[in-house]
Amino acid sequence: MKIGIIGSGNMGRSLGMLWAEQGHEVFFGSRDAAKGKSVAEFVGLGTQGGTNDEAAAFAEIILWTARGIMPSELLSNPEVLNGKIVIDCNNQEIPEDFAYPPIVESLAEKLARNIPNARVVKAFNTMAQEVFELAPEPLKNYQVSVFVAGNDEAARKAVS
Ligand SMILES: NC(=O)c1ccc[n+]([C@@H]2O[C@H](COP(=O)([O-])OP(=O)(O)OC[C@H]3O[C@@H](n4cnc5c(N)ncnc54)[C@H](OP(=O)(O)O)[C@@H]3O)[C@@H](O)[C@H]2O)c1
Repeated sequence: MKIGIIGSGNMGRSLGMLWAEQGHEVFFGSRDAAKGKSVAEFVGLGTQGGTNDEAAAFAEIILWTARGIMPSELLSNPEVLNGKIVIDCNNQEIPEDFAYPPIVESLAEKLARNIPNARVVKAFNTMAQEVFELAPEPLKNYQVSVFVAGNDEAARKAVS
């Protein structure tokens, strides 16, 4: 699959590298095209890098790692995501005055509202990036699971 990474930080780099190792075509996007390119150079494996706009246009599946930043704010043409699968791996920042009930709309719901014609799936948010980088065998042995949530069954299957 063609996978675009929006925001080449810890999660973007780690998951992008793992997906490239599995044979997927990965494009690392960033606010700074030079950073996206340098991440791709670091990862190798035929990956590409550049702007977030380029990553979104390139991909069938997009990993959205810019916490709380919406496509309408970050992409010059958010409609490029129409029909595409967008994975939201983000967790809310916990406010200093944290108290129940703290969250009325999840980040994935907010993202889905911002890009109503995209297929938003929540995944990869419940474990630390370092865990993804462990070898698959111990993860399987400990039955480590990734939770995948979304309304679109085909999109959930693709993410799984
Ligand atoms: N790290 C983990 O272990 C982990 C685990 C589960 C879930 N998560 C969640 O995954 C998300 C990403 O975490 P992370 O650890 O990868 O964070 P990170 O290293 O800070 O990467 C996030 C990337 O988002 C982009 N970004 C940051 N601020 C932005 C802004 N104002 N506008 C546009 N882009 C912006 C930056 O990419 P560019 O500089 O390339 O533009 C940044 O590198 C967070 O929501 C976090 O809660 C993290």
